[in-house]
Amino acid sequence: MDIAVIGSNNVDLITYVTRMPVDGETIEAPDFSIGCGGKGSNQAVAAARLGAEVLMVTCVGDDAFASMTLENYRANGIGIDLVKQVPGTSGVAPIFVDPDSHNRIIIVKGANNGLAPEDLEAAADRIAQCRLIVVQLEIRMETVLAAIDLGNRLGVPVLLNPAPASPDLDLEWAARCDYVMPNETELALLTGMPVEDEAQVREAAMVLLRRGCRHVVVTLGSRGVLWLHGDEDGALLEEALVPSVQVEAVDTTGAGDAFIGCFARCLTRGDAVPQALATANAYAALSVTGRGTQTSYPDADTFDQWCSARGLARGCGRTA
Ligand code: RIB
Repeated sequence: MDIAVIGSNNVDLITYVTRMPVDGETIEAPDFSIGCGGKGSNQAVAAARLGAEVLMVTCVGDDAFASMTLENYRANGIGIDLVKQVPGTSGVAPIFVDPDSHNRIIIVKGANNGLAPEDLEAAADRIAQCRLIVVQLEIRMETVLAAIDLGNRLGVPVLLNPAPASPDLDLEWAARCDYVMPNETELALLTGMPVEDEAQVREAAMVLLRRGCRHVVVTLGSRGVLWLHGDEDGALLEEALVPSVQVEAVDTTGAGDAFIGCFARCLTRGDAVPQALATANAYAALSVTGRGTQTSYPDADTFDQWCSARGLARGCGRTA
């Protein structure tokens, strides 16, 4: 296996609104779609569609949403033997997308809260065979910390996407990860530092690096991503601002997860970090041109064709 994703699954209930209702108001929305989501699942599906072998470590409920999620994993060739099932509701996410393609998301964690540190210990032999662990914050914090600890003990690199932003994540734990990939809001919460301009973002990212994290990648939206690479003593070795690919956005839901999933795929097939970041920027850009969450994640062939048509020499296909 290339990647173990230890994280969430949700079913996304996406309403396309012309505006948000005010208190006490009922309004009509022009469109709605339902699809598989959850930051963990999204990252797993993006990586799998691009050719990675992915093992999903997650927890579903016993409702219709669970069946939908399991079928989705099967359809995308994702390993599901470590998917736990508990009584009750699966994770669900009501999402509102406005005409400017911005979204507002509410998550109901449901069964995602059922994934426990003991489940990871029980799966340690399988996780040890993976080349990368990918984890986010839509599961219990104690399970996130157990995932980081397990990766450190097994010698499997850990990629932490500290999303959604949580005040419960300790900086020291984040620094134990090989790759930490926050957006600006998440970086500010994690470090307690301001991120009003690029100099402040860099200074906050340097704090993580000095604490021992080897790669800090801050996603800056349409401005691209800032990458800092350090040595084991926290000294800066390299840095780069990797530009985004400009497109007309239709729906940005799940774009950050597309970026992480593609980056994980590129890393585990041996790409250098700057190249993997450039490819992931292109994949995230393509994803925002389509509606929905995973429905907007292209497979490797489609992505390669899109890259070629735009003169981007950085496809992520099986043949690349
Ligand atoms: O990052 C987008 C995801 O956030 C959605 O799929 C939703 O389920 C929430 O987890």
